[in-house]
This record gives sequence, C-alpha cells and structure tokens, in this order.
Amino acid sequence: MSSAHQWLFGYGSLIWRPDIDYIERRPAQLRGWSRRFWQGSHDHRGMPSQPGRVVTLIEAPAAYCDGMAYLVDAATAAETFAALDHREKNGYERHELPLQFHHDNSIRHGLVYVARQDNHAFLGETSLAEMAQQIAVSKGPSGLNSDYLFDLARALRELGFEDPHVFELEVAVRQLVNAGGRAMHIEAHE
Ligand code: SIN
Repeated sequence: MSSAHQWLFGYGSLIWRPDIDYIERRPAQLRGWSRRFWQGSHDHRGMPSQPGRVVTLIEAPAAYCDGMAYLVDAATAAETFAALDHREKNGYERHELPLQFHHDNSIRHGLVYVARQDNHAFLGETSLAEMAQQIAVSKGPSGLNSDYLFDLARALRELGFEDPHVFELEVAVRQLVNAGGRAMHIEAHE
C-alpha cells in the first residue's frame, strides 16, 4: 500500500457503519456504476442455506452511485484494509475507481469494494417481488437482511441521495415485514 493517505468509497453498509478510523469523510459519487441488491450474503445478512441480498456495483455507462468517501490515514491503511478485506470477503474485491466529491466536483481515485458478476456468491437480477421476499426472510450473524436495507435507505435519505432501486425495495420489504408481523399477531390470538 502506498505511503499517501487513501480514499475509500462506501455505497452500502460502509455508509452507515464504516467501523474504521478515518481522517475525514465526504459525500461522493461514482459515475458509470449503479447500486444493486444483486450480491448474495452468506456470512452477514444470510446463511449458506438461505443467503441474503446485499448491494454491489454494476457497470452502467449512464448511471451513477452516490455514497460516502473516507480518507484513511497512510499510517493505519494496511491494518484498516486488512480488516475491510475480511469484512467484505464474501465475493468483494478492491478496485481503484475515480470518485467525484459532491462539494466541489473534484475527482480523486479511491478504493471501492465491488462484488463482480463472476464471484461465487453473485445472485444477479430478479424481480422486485422476489428480491423483496428474500430480503424479508433472511438473517445472518450481522442481523436481519431487512435492517441492512432499511439502514441503507435511511442513510441515503439523510444524505439527500435518490436511489429508486433501494427505495422501491424498501417499500416492498416493509409491506412484507408488516404483513408478516400482522400474521404473527393474528396467530398469537387464535
Ligand atoms: C460498501 O458498503 O461499500 C460495500 C458493500 C457493503 O458492505 O454493504
């Protein structure tokens, strides 16, 4: 790893739970990529027998993905990225990509964890209803898959970012979770 400070871009859990030391953070955008719930999670929000769905980035020339960039100190970068490599080990690889900062439109290179379509845990596209169903029922050592989605949607809203893919899934999963909760409530009173 170089001796300069290093930018890291987060677009999923790294937005609301970076769990790393950093010098500063700035909202930023990746051009030419879209955020999609197409990566399987066997180790955080699902299990090998029932994988959850988490976000990855898919190349799409006209698209963009908003997220948070963190400046990681050169002195602690090796340790920080070793911990992140472990956290993102289920199919993600580090890529160096150009980030555009929101406040001044300047561009810097940053490291981004991308789960490519050829990784073993990649699930790919399916209907909104199927994705919502899978997210509503999956859970893993890091918690409920639905909480991952709700936390991401809340964080994007707080930052003023739009992401129809995330917000539509959020609505669909909330409906399923609420309907499930009501079903359990009715069962308990039968
Ligand atoms: C990221 O947040 O940048 C990677 C995907 C995730 O950990 O949710």
